[in-house]
Amino acid sequence: MQMENPFKYAGVVTGPYFADRKGEISELLSEMRNLSRVFLVSPRRFGKTCLIFNLKEELGKEGLQTVYLDLKAYPDVGSFAVGITEKVSRALESSTDKVAKLISSLKHLRPRVEVGPDGSLAAGVEMAAPRQQALSALLEGLSHCHRLAQRKRKKLVIAVDEFSDLAKYDGQIVEKAIRAEIQTHTHIGYIFSGSEQSVMLSMTQDPQRAFYRTGRIMELGPIDRSQYLKFILKWFRKGGYRLEHVNLEPLFKSAEDVPYSVQRMCNILWETGRATETISQEMVDQAPFVVARQDSAHFELIWQGATPAQRTLLMALSLEPKAKPFSREFQLTYGVGPSSSIKASLDSLVKKGILYQTPAGRYRFADTFMRYWILRLRKMGSDLDQ
Ligand SMILES: Nc1ncnc2c1ncn2[C@@H]1O[C@H](COP(=O)(O)OP(=O)(O)OP(=O)(O)O)[C@@H](O)[C@H]1O
Ligand SMILES: [Mg+2]
Repeated sequence: MQMENPFKYAGVVTGPYFADRKGEISELLSEMRNLSRVFLVSPRRFGKTCLIFNLKEELGKEGLQTVYLDLKAYPDVGSFAVGITEKVSRALESSTDKVAKLISSLKHLRPRVEVGPDGSLAAGVEMAAPRQQALSALLEGLSHCHRLAQRKRKKLVIAVDEFSDLAKYDGQIVEKAIRAEIQTHTHIGYIFSGSEQSVMLSMTQDPQRAFYRTGRIMELGPIDRSQYLKFILKWFRKGGYRLEHVNLEPLFKSAEDVPYSVQRMCNILWETGRATETISQEMVDQAPFVVARQDSAHFELIWQGATPAQRTLLMALSLEPKAKPFSREFQLTYGVGPSSSIKASLDSLVKKGILYQTPAGRYRFADTFMRYWILRLRKMGSDLDQ
């Protein structure tokens, strides 16, 4: 039987399929042993969620329990209050009866018994107050989580993913209230993770905002190339592949070091090389175009939704990814401008999640393969011209 493809590019990747991040894990481990507050920030698909789940395993080995919540799954404050109270209670208290008893002492939340498909019972939570009191329910829930951790003499880590989504809850009132509550929590460490870098940074670095200096900001960068290369080669070797005189550096370059994109291309190399058990340089160089073709329906839709000015700009950024769009040279070369209309186009592309802006002010494709799709489109166009 052939080995399964070890390069996973979707969902949470753990164990032997998770590459490197040893430094980051050990840093987070020591922060969480001290029950600190850490804001984990990176562009999309850099591996924040995977990192949290791998950290959870390590923390577990040291007797620390981790509760993970994705804020995107909770559309309003009430559902977040219910979610966090329920998850923490279940993590710290295994008896359904005891959880129900604990929750029944609360004012804004109450227990709810859930019957599973197999007839098993689980302890649930629901709102016991009208929606207008959802924030009070959240604060009461958080305070209950802390009391429970204290009582159980447990060190608990709460990881809130997609934290920049907090803005959807009536903004800063919720932020201030949460901050005030968790400030007193001596038995819980917090990780707040998010990909909207500008939102995350202004939440924590603006003196006017509640989370100003409440914790350390950890910017998750790319995976170290040499470590990642070792991981990739190890798997190809295990699978019996030959990679003689193949340079994998272009893989990291075309992926712009985004782990998702590296994984995606390695996954394709594994499949295309399966029959011959060989990886050639040609395959490596073609990999980003193969992904671009596989995802073309998605890129086609984006392209159709873009204005002519935005398309020109996207084309220019594909040809010259390091370009400074506001420079005169760029505007002359690609016939775009003036700066005010470029700004409007870029803002709209960022808002739609097609581009993102790095803290250094550069614009990059949120999906690195879109660049290759556009390059292919351009090539097909010029082939037709001839
Ligand atoms: N260290 C790693 N080893 C192997 N694959 C990884 C690693 N980090 C990330 N990936 C791959 O990238 C994909 C995206 O990672 P993940 O969902 O953790 O990123 P994220 O930063 O949480 O993204 P988003 O901001 O979109 O939520 C994963 O499904 C996985 O395939
Ligand atoms: Mg994530």
